[in-house]
Amino acid sequence: MISAPTGAPHARILGVGGYRPSRVIPNSEIVDLIDSSDEWIRTRSGIVERRWANDEETVQMMSVAASRKALDHAKISIDEIDCVIVATVSHMRQTPAVAALVADELGADHPAAFDISAACAGFCHGIAMASDFIRGGSARNVLVIGVERLSDITNPHDRGTAFIFADGAGAAVVGPSDEPGIGPVVWGSSGDKAELIQTPDWFEANEAKETPWLTMEGNPVFRWASFAMAKVGQEALEKAGITADELDCFVPHQANMRIVDALARSMKLPETVKIARDIATMGNTSAASVPLALERMIEEGQAQSGDTALLIAFGAGLVYAAQVVVLP
Ligand code: UT7
Repeated sequence: MISAPTGAPHARILGVGGYRPSRVIPNSEIVDLIDSSDEWIRTRSGIVERRWANDEETVQMMSVAASRKALDHAKISIDEIDCVIVATVSHMRQTPAVAALVADELGADHPAAFDISAACAGFCHGIAMASDFIRGGSARNVLVIGVERLSDITNPHDRGTAFIFADGAGAAVVGPSDEPGIGPVVWGSSGDKAELIQTPDWFEANEAKETPWLTMEGNPVFRWASFAMAKVGQEALEKAGITADELDCFVPHQANMRIVDALARSMKLPETVKIARDIATMGNTSAASVPLALERMIEEGQAQSGDTALLIAFGAGLVYAAQVVVLP
């Protein structure tokens, strides 16, 4: 008989950090290309401005910067990280995984390192995996990164996407704990809706000399997210064994301010629950949106160490993941 893996009794988030690219792009810089207006964008999405990366702010560079902040916050040295997970859909090379390059640039001691593709839900998938790896004995401390440079694959002339998508990185260090700090994940997929958010086949795009732009049928995604995701959030609360009244913070994927509000309403979250609204100044940064929103709530003092937070994210696939976590 071989030995069974043994891990920590529980896992929790020990620290979070983010990187916000330096170029601030107000709505006024976008509206002419898509025959839109500042007012339309604010009313329909809640976005006032977003960040787009410059040439130096690569997926790797932003990941490293966010990770350094998360490690500082967690008071964990890079030597103690034995697994690095990067969630992204805008690292423009299929292989090698950017996670291995990020780990190397951070000076990590040869950790497991790989990328995952779960679009805007990638960070929440990574947190679920980290929790299971730590409890299962595959890793002691895991660095989970959500990062995007969506400006590379967003068509500036596309009315449905140009004003919404943006760039950035967020990271979390997940480690062992004596008490439960990451609740059971509720996750799933609806591949029958795959065509609602997608990039084309890259070989075909290349042959046609076209950029593989990201396309989105916004309205059906909006309706799906506003209704179906409230049930997913409710289930994550139930599985964590808490009620909405006991929840401190709600940190949904920053897809659209109206979706954030609709979810809070459908889930009947009491007014005492603090709600992340990072989208107003960051746009929709896909895999980076939840950790960036979380970082802001902690930095601005809206969220306190020990608070419970419901994370929920959804996107291309369509895929989704939600869990309740205890904040570092
Ligand atoms: O992050 C991954 C998951 N993604 C999401 O969750 C995004 C979900 N979707 C959304 O956030 C929203 O669907 C959008 C913000 C993208 C669009 O808002 P909407 O309320 O669904 O607008 P719509 O597409 O239904 O369009 C409404 C109207 C249309 O005009 P008519 O037919 O009512 O005359 C559009 O032609 O707004 C028009 N329109 C625009 N007007 C000005 C569409 N795009 C624009 C625009 N500027 N950019």
